Amino acid sequence: MAAPQTPPDIPAAVAALRRGDVIGLPTETVYGLAADAGNVEAVRRIFALKGRPADHPLIVHIADASNLPHWTTGASPLALRLAEAFWPGPLTMILPRSARVPDVVTGGQDTVGLRCPDHPVALAVLREFGGGLAAPSANRFGRISPTSAAHVREEFPGGVDIILDGGDCEIGIESTIIDLSSGEPRILRPGRISAARIEAVIGPVAQDRSEHSPRASGTLEAHYAPRTPLLMLPRAALEKEAREQGALGKRVATLGVGTIPRGSSGLALPEDAESFAHGLYAALRQLDASGQQLLLVERPPEDPAWDAVQDRLRRAAAGAEADDDSP
Ligand code: TXA
Ligand code: MG
Repeated sequence: MAAPQTPPDIPAAVAALRRGDVIGLPTETVYGLAADAGNVEAVRRIFALKGRPADHPLIVHIADASNLPHWTTGASPLALRLAEAFWPGPLTMILPRSARVPDVVTGGQDTVGLRCPDHPVALAVLREFGGGLAAPSANRFGRISPTSAAHVREEFPGGVDIILDGGDCEIGIESTIIDLSSGEPRILRPGRISAARIEAVIGPVAQDRSEHSPRASGTLEAHYAPRTPLLMLPRAALEKEAREQGALGKRVATLGVGTIPRGSSGLALPEDAESFAHGLYAALRQLDASGQQLLLVERPPEDPAWDAVQDRLRRAAAGAEADDDSP
């Protein structure tokens, strides 16, 4: 894990948040673009910086579960058990919002996403600040989430004055999202905390398979996409595709599971799902910046341990494809 280049100045960050500024905030999943969740103007600045449509709600980050009653009217026994089991940690719960949550945070919905992040810098800021911090991933709308302070600087050159450097994010992909706002708990976004671990605490949960069709409306925002077209293929098909495209003179790079696919140039990430996830977004950024015409990513094993990575890669492929169609 890369150490932070500069020790984070927590008091300066908290003063900026109190003024209504937006800051770059490290979490254990990805970096967030954080602002005072109770300040409508500050939250609007997040949307403007990201170029994010107003109907895509933000997650409110809180210091611990004792803050739940401020933000939700529905801190149900299930929610409290999950908070007890997984907070601080990479689990976001969708719960009925309280009247104190501004509309701008929830996109006008009657629910709010809440999470207590497991990162010393994020927790220090939250404790000192006292309130909740609305924070989406610190990338421009539809792009790859940042996993280092340098990535955040790349995304918003000159646009964000304070970017706290908390080193490389340990997990590297966004939190698991579980919707507890209706009768049936449902996973909306897979992440490090698996359905099986959640079920061990609260019993059966549904999994929203609709997100596996990334063109469905409402899932558009989560493309996590590089600018270069991206295809996900099993190893043998990928090696063949790389050879054929190379023979046509196309600049192609590959991303392999465990090793770089034969006969190609590119990167490899470790064979275990958690280490792969940790390095995924930095690898995609690096490949995207290397002047290729096509990125070929090896399809990870069909195994629940790889659910979250599969999900992000599918969306990246769909996003890159969508981009390809645009002028
Ligand atoms: O790991 C994470 O969750 C990171 C870090 C910074 O905490 N945050 C993050 O936020 O990924 P964002 O905004 O990039 O993704 C949050 C997702 C969006 O797809 C949003 O639509 C969904 O959560 N979401 C937020 N509030 C919701 C709600 N009330 N109902 C349904 N979905 C919601
Ligand atoms: Mg995001």
